[in-house]
Amino acid sequence: MASSYGYPFEQQHCLSISQFSRPDIETLLALGEYYLDLSVQKSPDNRILTGKTLVNLFFENSTRTQKSFEIAGRRLGADVINMEVANSSVKKGETLLDTAATLNAMNPDMLVVRHGSSGAQALLAQKVSGSVINAGDGMHEHPTQALLDALTIRRHFGKDFGGLRLAICGDITHSRVARSNVQLLNMLGCEVRLVGPPTLIPSDADRWGVEVYHNMEDGLEGCDVVMMLRLQLERMSGAFVPSKREYFHFYGLDRAKLAYAKPGAMVMHPGPMNRGVEIASSIADDPDVSLITHQVESGVAMRMGILHALSEAQDGVA
Ligand code: NCD
Repeated sequence: MASSYGYPFEQQHCLSISQFSRPDIETLLALGEYYLDLSVQKSPDNRILTGKTLVNLFFENSTRTQKSFEIAGRRLGADVINMEVANSSVKKGETLLDTAATLNAMNPDMLVVRHGSSGAQALLAQKVSGSVINAGDGMHEHPTQALLDALTIRRHFGKDFGGLRLAICGDITHSRVARSNVQLLNMLGCEVRLVGPPTLIPSDADRWGVEVYHNMEDGLEGCDVVMMLRLQLERMSGAFVPSKREYFHFYGLDRAKLAYAKPGAMVMHPGPMNRGVEIASSIADDPDVSLITHQVESGVAMRMGILHALSEAQDGVA
């Protein structure tokens, strides 16, 4: 197929939303959309990563992100290697940079990395010759999640993000998904709100270009999309909420709270979900209001699009 839709995509890595220009984002979303079609995903004509090696290096747990990259890489014809950090030399005390140097000597073309420290992938990118893709760094960024969320929104609401009002709700403080999504959705022209208890909204949120709300009723009013986030207990030292029951009462999404959003509003969640904590099962499982399964589907397509663009940039196909 033709190279990146006429626009020269020249980025070597995918580390953060802030590194991309608007045309970069449009190219990536167009490629993601191209791969949404399952027959295109599985077509032998699209094995553009044949002969390339993709290494998945996950220092934190993951189900959907790692599998999604694995499937995306394989569908594009890459050799995919999953490094199990639990069984690797990292457990014997090897540093991140030594692991990187070892991997680099094996010449992977794509290195998909999830790490608990913000900025770990940016450091790695300076040390390896292949493309580094950030699959989540600490509380900093998760750019491929934001791109797949934008693709999901575009699939449902169409290409004009300009008129959309979105609420991102819950544990914003510990969320790399929120940080990447706010940047991307702002760039695309959406009106973005953050909703959560004061303890879970970062103190600098007033500089993020969003409106902040501390109750769901006001925050959800007139919203087209309600994006729920998990309480990231593994990143909390001490308790940020009095109890999960109380949290659900005030901030958990149920029918009554969703009724404050616009008629026809859709619900998203990056997963993994804690049912009965931030979202009621009756909402999460209702295909009339939930886009959660679509997010997982869009995830594979979007990651194929990202790998495609990076691979073309490597090969100088612009
Ligand atoms: C998110 C993550 O890891 O940041 N999950 C994901 O990638 N699907 C959100 C979370 O863990 O709550």
